[in-house]
Amino acid sequence: MCLFFFQILMFFSGVVFVRDIVGSLHLRLQVLGGASQQLSCLHTSISLDAKHWERYNRKVYPPQLPEEPRRPAEVYHSRRQIKYSKDKMWYLAKMIRGMNIDEAIAQLEFNDKKGAKIMREVLLEAQEMAVKNHNVEYKSNLYVAESFSGKGQYLKRIRYHGRGMFGIMDKVYCHYFVKLVEGVPPKPEERTGFDQAKEYVQGLKNRTIIHSL
Ligand SMILES: *[C@@H]1O[C@H](CO)[C@@H](O)[C@H](O)[C@H]1NC(C)=O
Repeated sequence: MCLFFFQILMFFSGVVFVRDIVGSLHLRLQVLGGASQQLSCLHTSISLDAKHWERYNRKVYPPQLPEEPRRPAEVYHSRRQIKYSKDKMWYLAKMIRGMNIDEAIAQLEFNDKKGAKIMREVLLEAQEMAVKNHNVEYKSNLYVAESFSGKGQYLKRIRYHGRGMFGIMDKVYCHYFVKLVEGVPPKPEERTGFDQAKEYVQGLKNRTIIHSL
């Protein structure tokens, strides 16, 4: 008798439980659907001219003429609030500028700095984005077109000195920004001081005195 009641209890509670879950799920779906619909109607998502680096990913170029060369794909990627100094990050950012993506990743892999590991992750993410979202066929056919660091939001902390004095420390954070472009890296023009000197002398020789005899 007792067991029977227990079973009935179990049965009811089970049913009630299941119905409750279904009900809440339904409600949640409705809320989600309504919210997303509202977002898409009102354009309350991040606007195109918002001040963030990734907005360039949504840039739409005018159609090209048939004889024009294919426009290379571009990927913009960044990481924010990295617990690292922006100045230390800059050296690494500068190091990989203009490198092929594989070369840049290899260079960062063999660098012992803390920022190198983070930058490598960001580059790998950007590479994956290029292949997945930006119609890049070969993931090695990319180069680092832009690479720089920025200052993040700092936290202030008190540093206690002797005699009741104190200082204010900064807990530093930085941002890292990268732009990858499809294709082989462009060769920087190599001009030595001698070339510049020759040009300068030529400029001097080019001088003429007009309205003279
Ligand atoms: C000097 O003149 C030559 C020939 O007119 C020209 O090609 C060259 O660009 C000039 N150089 C400078 C520095 O103006």
